[in-house]
Amino acid sequence: MTIECQFWAHAISHDWWEQIALDIWDNSSRPLIVLSDFAAVREALVTQAEAFSDRPALPVVLIITQKKGIVFAPYGPVWKQQRKFSHTTLRHFGLGKNSLEPKIIEELKYIKEEIQTHGKEPFNPFSIISNGVSNIICTLAFGRRFDYEDVEFTTLLSLMSRGLQVCINSSVILVNICPWLYYLPFGPFRELRQAELDITAFLKRIIAQHRENLDPENPQDFIDMYLLQVDEEKKKNKESSFNEDYLFFIIGDLFIAGTDTTTNTLLWCLLYMSLYPEVQEKVHAEISAVIGPDQAPSLADKAKMPFTEATIMEVQRMTVVVPLSIPRMASKTAVLQGYTIPKGSVIVPNLWSVHRDPNTWEKPDDFQPTRFLDEKGQLIKRETFIPFGLGKRVCMGEQLAKMELFLMFVNLLQSFTFFELKGHWKY
Ligand code: HEM
Repeated sequence: MTIECQFWAHAISHDWWEQIALDIWDNSSRPLIVLSDFAAVREALVTQAEAFSDRPALPVVLIITQKKGIVFAPYGPVWKQQRKFSHTTLRHFGLGKNSLEPKIIEELKYIKEEIQTHGKEPFNPFSIISNGVSNIICTLAFGRRFDYEDVEFTTLLSLMSRGLQVCINSSVILVNICPWLYYLPFGPFRELRQAELDITAFLKRIIAQHRENLDPENPQDFIDMYLLQVDEEKKKNKESSFNEDYLFFIIGDLFIAGTDTTTNTLLWCLLYMSLYPEVQEKVHAEISAVIGPDQAPSLADKAKMPFTEATIMEVQRMTVVVPLSIPRMASKTAVLQGYTIPKGSVIVPNLWSVHRDPNTWEKPDDFQPTRFLDEKGQLIKRETFIPFGLGKRVCMGEQLAKMELFLMFVNLLQSFTFFELKGHWKY
């Protein structure tokens, strides 16, 4: 009951309610265009990036993000400034750099210990992998990791995963037609609000702790750097987009975007290894030849392990964890592939169909890592492979995700063999 009261209070206090009403009006007659081949996706996202880099203000997105943060921020100076600051700051703390490698390797020790506690019994690796992956972004953003026994954190991760699931794949989608459905006290609506409420409380507490312990001479993580930027901007520009409210939405974006996508990709990799033991054997052989059984894998090994890299890429091609990318919006009327696309149209880049297009991929439904290798066994870059999207709004965490996927996949395969047992996984 207490929770319901909170929800309704939350509903009434939304000052963007009027904005939502306007957006429903806008959305009611808005064309939605699905781009299903590479040429159309590239033309929209790269060649005509100025026209197609905005995001639509769908009511469900408005309610949850208030158009703040990076992922759903409108294309413009605020998004540009915030994305640039976030990317530079994450790089300062190791995103895409070798300095992050030891932290990922250390996290893998915990992941492997946790897997070993299951002995020879089948288990669901979701919570272990999602906790481990999330700890990497938490280390960069919050300066700390969370134990696998931390019930609050593991519950939060499950809620987040479920929240994303119901957002995309349940009657919650109807919120875009009838926004007040969001406040229904049952079913997926209630689940989504619970996830929003719990993640909000968790992130706000972490930001408050950082504000309390902030040492301007010695910033430890992304939040510290952002808070220093907020203080700096306050002195010279009262209208600045840097403030603690905006920080909350950016941290939320990093936490959610940085956990679920990489976790699911890694889980798909393990599942494909259990379904294709002959591929797993080849990966094992390459790991033995290049790294051996005891040494920790390093990014420096990547160039010598084309088959392993091709395997990860083929899993990403087949599974596409963000299959319809994140929707874009036409910020002006433009002609695309000969068709006039009116301003305000929603654009959906269908990455799934780009990755399964028989005109660009031979036998697209078959799992064949060798399609990413030339006749000498060297890795081929294929421009139609776009799991991270394209253009100005391409995934900001691409380098981080690639690092995590390589180090985690290799490290796990170095220690374990994954196989399926009566519908369960076993190692
Ligand atoms: C395998 C892992 C990942 C995949 C497949 C993935 C995929 C994507 C895709 C398809 C987009 C939409 C791009 C577009 O609109 O063209 C995106 C956006 C984004 N991703 Fe990722 N992502 C992954 C990991 C990460 C990680 C680890 C982070 C954390 C830093 C992250 C942060 C973001 C952000 C902030 C955006 C929004 C960019 C913007 O709108 O300017 N992603 N991602």
